[in-house]
Amino acid sequence: MKVNGKLYKMSGRRTHEQSDLSGGVIEDGILICSNHFAKFNPTNGAVVEWPEAPGKVSALKSYEAKIENGAILVEI
Ligand code: FES
Repeated sequence: MKVNGKLYKMSGRRTHEQSDLSGGVIEDGILICSNHFAKFNPTNGAVVEWPEAPGKVSALKSYEAKIENGAILVEI
């Protein structure tokens, strides 16, 4: 995910119901889970808005990344 010119790799698992997050969408630089619409800051993985369903949700893992010689490099 690219935000303000910087590239980030985020974990692909929902932290709310532990399923695949790949159906999420990006709006105004914020990642929105397609299931209960929790919102995450891609630069640090923080929860910026809680889901529309009860249950615990925690931050996603987020890593800075870059593209070099056609390869995606993730800093972990
Ligand atoms: S599974 Fe994503 S907000 Fe509930």
